[in-house]
Amino acid sequence: MLNLKIIIASTRPGRKGPSIAAWFTEIAQKHTEFNVEVLDLLQINLPFLDEPEHPRFQKYQQQHTKDWSAMINSGDAFVIVTSEYNYGYPASIKNAIDFLFKEWQYKAVGFVSYGGVSGGTRAVQMLKGVITAVDMMPISTGVHIPAFTKHIDESGKFMNDPGLDKSADGMLNELYKWAVALKTMRG
Ligand SMILES: Cc1cc2nc3c(=O)[nH]c(=O)nc-3n(C[C@H](O)[C@H](O)[C@H](O)COP(=O)(O)O)c2cc1C
Repeated sequence: MLNLKIIIASTRPGRKGPSIAAWFTEIAQKHTEFNVEVLDLLQINLPFLDEPEHPRFQKYQQQHTKDWSAMINSGDAFVIVTSEYNYGYPASIKNAIDFLFKEWQYKAVGFVSYGGVSGGTRAVQMLKGVITAVDMMPISTGVHIPAFTKHIDESGKFMNDPGLDKSADGMLNELYKWAVALKTMRG
């Protein structure tokens, strides 16, 4: 079994990220090769990076960094559920990545993005560059949801959609292959 951590990037009041993450998590839980855990950046509540040392040294002074480090260290693969703000990724996810280094290293990451016509793809393209700086492997198969509000019902639930469900399944299969391969690199 590998540990898959699903990270909810958006933190603003009224955000839609959790409903998309709930839909994706349900599909991920059917992949029995993964232990699935959701990490919600709103609940985790990291401040702006407040560590004096480069994270490569892992000399963390703040308890919130030690806690975040433990959460990421135990992950074998990640899926970032991200919105797109002004053609980019939310600052919350960049900040959360910057806190750590070795905990991310040689691990695979997939993306679920949502937005207007672009389906959050511009945010994901920017995020891929950041991800490679911490030696993560961003997988090319992604789940991108344009005009995402049409999939959310009156209760706020993201509704299943055959095309999107298939896309999520395909990404998880690909993520698993990379996660198995990269585990050997971590010794
Ligand atoms: C500050 C801000 C900037 C936004 N910029 C974009 C954008 O560049 N592209 C896009 O597709 N949607 C954009 N939107 C609309 C978001 O797709 C929509 O608000 C979505 O619900 C954001 O995700 P969240 O609810 O999880 O925060 C923006 C929304 C906000 C609040």
